[in-house]
Amino acid sequence: MNTNIETILDTAVMRLRKAQIPNARLDARILLAGILGCEACEVLFCDKSLTPAQSQRFFSMIDQRCNHKPVDKILGTKGFYKYDFQVDGHVLSPRPDTEVLVEAVIDYIRMHDVDKVLDLGTGSGCILLSVLSEFSGLKGVGVDVSQPALAVAQKNAEILQVSEQVELKRLSWFSESFIEDIGEMFDVIVSNPPYIPNKEIDELDEEVKNYDPLAALDGGEDGLESYRRLAMIMPSLLKENGMLFLEVGKGQATEVGCLFCSYGLKLIQIIKDLGGIERCVILKK
Ligand SMILES: C[S@@+](CC[C@H](N)C(=O)[O-])C[C@H]1O[C@@H](n2cnc3c(N)ncnc32)[C@H](O)[C@@H]1O
Repeated sequence: MNTNIETILDTAVMRLRKAQIPNARLDARILLAGILGCEACEVLFCDKSLTPAQSQRFFSMIDQRCNHKPVDKILGTKGFYKYDFQVDGHVLSPRPDTEVLVEAVIDYIRMHDVDKVLDLGTGSGCILLSVLSEFSGLKGVGVDVSQPALAVAQKNAEILQVSEQVELKRLSWFSESFIEDIGEMFDVIVSNPPYIPNKEIDELDEEVKNYDPLAALDGGEDGLESYRRLAMIMPSLLKENGMLFLEVGKGQATEVGCLFCSYGLKLIQIIKDLGGIERCVILKK
């Protein structure tokens, strides 16, 4: 074992524990692996020692983690579905729960003739770009209200080599001209809009409330504000027989399903995530 690395790790773990960071050793290993360019499980057996500059960088990362900055936001990258996505403070860190939505969309497209997909609230682009990567002939439009988030999505599109397939547009679905600005209808629409009731935001973990953008979290008074607006405009965006795939928060699936049904869509399926929570609502026009 590399004693230099072991001593550095022990010091980092002590600092993290003092700051009450759970999984201190794992986080320290992941951050160190980021610096050494190896896997977290290989850190102790790495034959390199840290240069003074690397050591300084590592302890600056540990200081950030002590302030509850999530590991992925410190490293600037988060694994999601099959890829590593670039992340920064302007985008929601992709969540494993959202992979259920991606898989449902991909399964549907495999079995149907689909030309173009619209992703409402694309953020890092993790949903849309994962889907586009599976089908080289498929096109996609990603919409977000945040220009810096779209810049991250653009970077990810380049990394995944799907920039030719994607168009990114800065628009808000609350704008009156949204439907005209989009200017076309889609076979498949996917969305993971903000859905946290705003009075619950203060109670979220510091990792989330201080490091994910508010626009990605705040779903208005009851969490359903964006769904209400999306339900209203959906008939003008979805082609006849087109499919809508929505991510929802815990306990929202039935209400969100009913909301879209009141605008003429039919509820097809509700899928649970790996934690058993109803996470994905699928509707058809
Ligand atoms: C929950 S995040 C989802 C990000 C990404 N699709 C994912 O699943 O990780 C919601 C996204 O919707 C965007 N957003 C919030 N309100 C919006 C609006 N009115 N119009 C367009 N995008 C909006 C936010 O900027 C954020 O990127």
